[in-house]
Amino acid sequence: MPCKVHFVNPGRNYLMIKDEIDAAYLEVMTRGDLIDRDHLRRFEKNVAAFVGTKYAVGLNSGYDALHISLRAAKIGPGDEVIVPAHTFVATASAVVNVAAKPVLVDVGKDFNIDPDKVEEAITERTRGIIPVHLNGYMADMIRLMEIAERYDLVVIEDACQSLGATMNGKKAGSWGLAGCWSFYPFKILGGYGDGGAITTNDPDVALFATRMRYNGEDRETGEYHGHGFTCLLDNLQAAFLDIKLRHLPLWIERRREIAESYKAALADIPDLMLPHYSDPQREHVYQNYVVRARQGDDFSEYLKKKGIEVLTQFRKPYYKHEALKLEDRGFPETEALSSEVCSLPMNVEITEEELDYVIEIVQSFYER
Ligand SMILES: Cc1ncc(COP(=O)(O)O)c(C=O)c1O
Repeated sequence: MPCKVHFVNPGRNYLMIKDEIDAAYLEVMTRGDLIDRDHLRRFEKNVAAFVGTKYAVGLNSGYDALHISLRAAKIGPGDEVIVPAHTFVATASAVVNVAAKPVLVDVGKDFNIDPDKVEEAITERTRGIIPVHLNGYMADMIRLMEIAERYDLVVIEDACQSLGATMNGKKAGSWGLAGCWSFYPFKILGGYGDGGAITTNDPDVALFATRMRYNGEDRETGEYHGHGFTCLLDNLQAAFLDIKLRHLPLWIERRREIAESYKAALADIPDLMLPHYSDPQREHVYQNYVVRARQGDDFSEYLKKKGIEVLTQFRKPYYKHEALKLEDRGFPETEALSSEVCSLPMNVEITEEELDYVIEIVQSFYER
């Protein structure tokens, strides 16, 4: 069956804001402002204000944000960094690529790193923790910051999936030494290609990232301050992202409405676990609406056959990929959820008819 409901629909999203995007495109192109120009600086200022940090530094990707943050924290050979067993592989790859060792820790029912297990994994080599705020819901930063303080560990937040999420009113990406962001097209703030950023309150981290993204160069003096990388956010992408950022608060509201519609229709199905949690301290932004279906692939394949695009990230946990040579210390929750996860369509472009169709098909699976 042809696709009836897309997981996300970037073309339709573009049409919603076409006039603004087209005007920005014309402005940037006619001025020829392509690298390190005003739109980038304006976007950085607005991202920092949105997250509640002093600085934001635009980069090429979420991976670059993690990599540069680890370097800024001087994490390297011999160091261990705690990361969740259930996350996108880039979280761990960034650690490996600074020659440190990722130590994997299992997650809890909310898909986020389990603070109790973090403490058990700390050794005399542990230098940092990378909590990942997965799917739009924050890890328990109150407990994690307390653990980090007690053991003198650096915290780098992988907030790639959680722009706008809060705990006690404080935004994701404003708790640790650095917050790392991805503007990959499927993200809650998605560009038209790759993009990312670091948010931080630390002027040294901001300065380090600003230099390292431009091959180590201080753009004012021309002095090289180290061997760096080419990984700054393009001015054109920054201009587009800045427009989308203005829409984000309303788009987050829309995501919450969609999540409530799913909940109202599907909460009574015993074999389906929905991503609604009872912690009043934390506000979800529903980057992804990930359900756990006891029927695993039978469920996701049924939806696909009915023309609904769903993602099953990650059926095979990243530490089970042999080439990555990561230590599998046994992660029961990650194992259990991996065979059950299914992300339903969640985007601000979805129509009410499409949403009703997804709900009807999920219900029909359980009524068979
Ligand atoms: C949790 C998480 N970490 C890191 C990344 C890496 O971001 P990027 O794809 O922009 O490099 C992503 C996104 O893909 C992500 O979802």
